[in-house]
Amino acid sequence: MGSAAASGKRENARDHGFSRLRDFWRTLTYSALMAGQGALPLGWHISDPDISERHVEGTLVLNRIGYFALAFLAVAISLVSMRFLTFDPGVLAEELRANLLGNPLLFFLHTTVSPFALLLGVFQFLPATRRTAWHRWSGRLYVLLCLLGAASGLGIAFTTTMGPLVGSGFAILAVLWFAATYNAYRFARNRDFARHRRWMIRSYALTAAAITLRLILPISGLAGLSFAQGYLIAAWGCWTINIVIAELIIRARPNPGALPDRVASARKDTLAA
Ligand code: HEM
Repeated sequence: MGSAAASGKRENARDHGFSRLRDFWRTLTYSALMAGQGALPLGWHISDPDISERHVEGTLVLNRIGYFALAFLAVAISLVSMRFLTFDPGVLAEELRANLLGNPLLFFLHTTVSPFALLLGVFQFLPATRRTAWHRWSGRLYVLLCLLGAASGLGIAFTTTMGPLVGSGFAILAVLWFAATYNAYRFARNRDFARHRRWMIRSYALTAAAITLRLILPISGLAGLSFAQGYLIAAWGCWTINIVIAELIIRARPNPGALPDRVASARKDTLAA
């Protein structure tokens, strides 16, 4: 009798251990999947109605980590880029300097406005700033900075010292950046906030090409590529990679506002189980 009870207890403990392990595994794989989908706080996605609270929380934690990593890089790179506010050509890499010396006005316009777009833009996605006067005014300034950054970026793309292939990568980026930002603004004016959100994600993904570019350059250096080879990969990779991530984020949460309901229902299900 005693031994049956003891073995029952052992089985229970083992089952409990298994279910904790299984829960942990599901949380891990689900979270990894969400991270793979680029589900930053810009987009939450819970497709499985049976998903447990732990899955949801695991996803939320990873989303926050993703956002903080993005915000950290955006702040760091914009601050480093503000060295151009000294208007000293010496702060630019020697290989690129002839472009600046040939087009100082356009170049310095670009390096003055773009870092502020990178800095302001990242905070626009914080839920706390939504529906505030800050969001609207900072948003208008972001749009202005992006349009100026894109127009000047297009101007200096054609005269880069790194050749026409690099120049065309930047030129396409400039046109897309201008168009995505203008579209996002237009939809906000028309109060079509679902489209506004989608186009702002695209716009900021293109703004954040400045981050990806500065990640690709040292990585390609470590991989043994020359500066010219790394720069060519960076000029194309910086925006193509970001556009793919942006589209994944947009698809991860096609239905804004759905999070609270889904989290609430996942919580209710877990409590009821
Ligand atoms: C997204 C559209 C952008 C385009 C099309 C673009 C284009 C360009 C081009 C063509 C150059 C000259 C490079 C050369 O001579 O080879 C340049 C340089 C530069 N851009 Fe942008 N840019 C964009 C976004 C940004 C952003 C958001 C920042 C914010 C940090 C930024 C900061 C700079 C800086 C600091 C330089 C000087 C070079 C360096 O230090 O790397 N750009 N950009």
